[in-house]
Amino acid sequence: MEQYAIKGGNPLVGEVEIGGAKNAALGILAASIMTDETVVIENVPDVRDTNVMMKAIESIGGIVEGIDRHTVKISGKTINDVVIEDGFIKKIRASYYLLGALLGKYKRAQVTLPGGCNIGLRPIDQHIKGFRALGADVRIEHGLIIAEAERLRGSHIYLDVVTVGATIDIMMAAVMAEGQTIIENAAKEPHVVDVANFLNSMGAVIKGAGTDVIRIKGVPRLHGTEYVIIPDQIEAGTFMFAAAVTKGDVTVKNVIPKHLESISAKLIEVGCEVEESDDAVRVVAAKPLTHTHVKTLPYPGFPTDMQPQITVALGLSRGTSIVTESIFENRFKYVDELTRMGANIKVEGNTAIIDGVNKYTGASISAPDLRAGAALVIAGLAAEGMTTVDDIQFIERGYEDFHIKLKNLGAQIEKVACEREQKKFRLKTG
Ligand code: EPZ
Repeated sequence: MEQYAIKGGNPLVGEVEIGGAKNAALGILAASIMTDETVVIENVPDVRDTNVMMKAIESIGGIVEGIDRHTVKISGKTINDVVIEDGFIKKIRASYYLLGALLGKYKRAQVTLPGGCNIGLRPIDQHIKGFRALGADVRIEHGLIIAEAERLRGSHIYLDVVTVGATIDIMMAAVMAEGQTIIENAAKEPHVVDVANFLNSMGAVIKGAGTDVIRIKGVPRLHGTEYVIIPDQIEAGTFMFAAAVTKGDVTVKNVIPKHLESISAKLIEVGCEVEESDDAVRVVAAKPLTHTHVKTLPYPGFPTDMQPQITVALGLSRGTSIVTESIFENRFKYVDELTRMGANIKVEGNTAIIDGVNKYTGASISAPDLRAGAALVIAGLAAEGMTTVDDIQFIERGYEDFHIKLKNLGAQIEKVACEREQKKFRLKTG
């Protein structure tokens, strides 16, 4: 099994290019099959989750053609099946987007119940509630979600919780429904807006994405388009916190600074300098980090997908910090691993109480999920000595060339496949 070997201690310095947003790409790839015309999508991150989504589209007869590493041409014209039940699709949570896309276009879909990162209970009741409100019959049989409708009719849907997945999924199912759909208490994340913009570029009529009320006027059909996916807010935030934790100076390029405001605000609170320009943000960590409190919230609040990264930083700050996770109930599993590196963190329910320590020390640790895995790598970059991180397949779900980008910023990190390679790395880095 591959792992990252890390020799900590180098401050990260330099510039890093941020790729396309994984969670926008997953919605957009699924939505691309909703027309029989060709769709070209640029800035698709080359990560495991997007590759699984493209494989799923091929498995039902869609044509996916790679133009270059980040550009794909997709045709849904040849789709001959609405059943997606192969084991591989279970690996990604976003398989539910194929349900909304297929139901919207063909009025029927059967998709394996989604899996994804194990960060807590991840119900899909709000997706189902939305599809039912549009007139679909939805049931779960033999591990499949089956959704069928004679016709879909616009409806007024009030979401009980703010959910990114259900907002996007219902939006896709509603774009070709008859009449108007209103989604209230909708999620406002940048990727919700990006999927709406993509669908509008295909001829959909969606208004209000980015606010908590989205209005969709059904159209008979969608057409082909060319579209560029927005930059990844969480990849950018991860490198910004990597700069903070390693006392570095990093400019993240190709970003939308507005999407990073809650992250920049916390970095400033803990003592970093943050400089924004049109499409870049520079983080300089010249002073020791200070403590703060943070609670994860739906956008524009502090993202749950940045919770492990900020915890790693607060673990090295002066004083006591409190981190409250309000989105997923099981997102502190990595704390045990961080404790093995010397962190002083106590978790009570959805709260972590962090007493800052002067340093982390290298250890052999495992990535429990995608974002926690990335956060542990950052801890390793700051730690004294050698760290090895196992289960990096989780990290590769959502970060393209993570170790290469870190290496280009001066990190001592290598992907190793066996003991011999690990030894070689140890010898090389002293
Ligand atoms: C998306 O997950 C992202 N995944 C997650 O990113 C991200 O952490 C999350 O949104 C929150 O921003 C993708 O986009 C593929 P939700 P999703 O529906 O859609 C509850 C990453 O690291 N809920 O917004 O599954 C749910 O339990 C991943 O990239 C219901 O109760 O999240 C949670 O408490 C991890 N019923 C809250 O809503 C439902 O039907 C928000 O979940 C749906 C959700």
